[in-house]
Amino acid sequence: MALRRITTYKIQQMKRRGEPIPMVTAYDYTAARIIDAAGIPMILVGDSMGHVVLGHDSTIPVTVDDIVSASAAVVRGTTNPLIVADMPFLSYQIDAETALRNAARLIQEGGAQAVKLEGGKTVAPIVRRLADAGLAVMGHIGLTPQHVNKLGGYRVQGKTESTANEVLEDAIALQEAGAFAIVLELIPVELAKKITETLDIPTIGIGAGVHCDGQIQVFHDMLGLDPDFRPRHSGKYADLATIIEDALIRYSDDVREGTFPTDAQSFFSDDSHVQSNAANPVELSD
Ligand code: KIV
Repeated sequence: MALRRITTYKIQQMKRRGEPIPMVTAYDYTAARIIDAAGIPMILVGDSMGHVVLGHDSTIPVTVDDIVSASAAVVRGTTNPLIVADMPFLSYQIDAETALRNAARLIQEGGAQAVKLEGGKTVAPIVRRLADAGLAVMGHIGLTPQHVNKLGGYRVQGKTESTANEVLEDAIALQEAGAFAIVLELIPVELAKKITETLDIPTIGIGAGVHCDGQIQVFHDMLGLDPDFRPRHSGKYADLATIIEDALIRYSDDVREGTFPTDAQSFFSDDSHVQSNAANPVELSD
């Protein structure tokens, strides 16, 4: 039986064909539907939801339950893209069996096709265990936001020769452990190019320049949903916060002035007396 969604094999073929791979994050059904309609082949249910959905100042408080429920919503909203679910902080570092159990929840309860976890050589044995169990695993190196306290901030990684070599070794270790693709976050363009040329599996960059096989951005950042946070690498594809705020101000003014709703948004009884909606349900849309 053919698989309904884009597969990891198809994503890897895109690299072989030199076809760039667009990817964005999603955390809910409505956004996922729009992303699917836009033809994006791969979605990450990222633990960036800790920032953009839950309002935390890091990804650390995000739980497996959070990602399971967001993944299930994203899966319900899509038919085509490959869905990758992020493994939250400490859901995979304790030991390989815990990692496997948590990854299984993201796949079986969340409905994702793959999981992503942060780290290089040190998590390669975990990646190997998950891959051996039949899971599709995406790596994530360079800036790894779950390590923000250790790294002392969200900073570009691999800028010196020795740290660049470490990031390259991390990439090779993840490929050897069985990862099907790797996110490269906030590393210099030259290093991302070298890693992309060295690996057989796709690299998906965020703040890592144009030479990666694909690009990922956080949905809320690239669409300008937070007027106070617009990372340099996200691009400016829309200014949705302004558009939404304008619409809400117009709505609020109309309600205050009594000009909303008009007859066009209202429902009227057939007879002169008001009938119960339960007895005569009205159509809520045209
Ligand atoms: O959680 C996330 O959105 C991510 C991307 C930044 C790659 O890990």
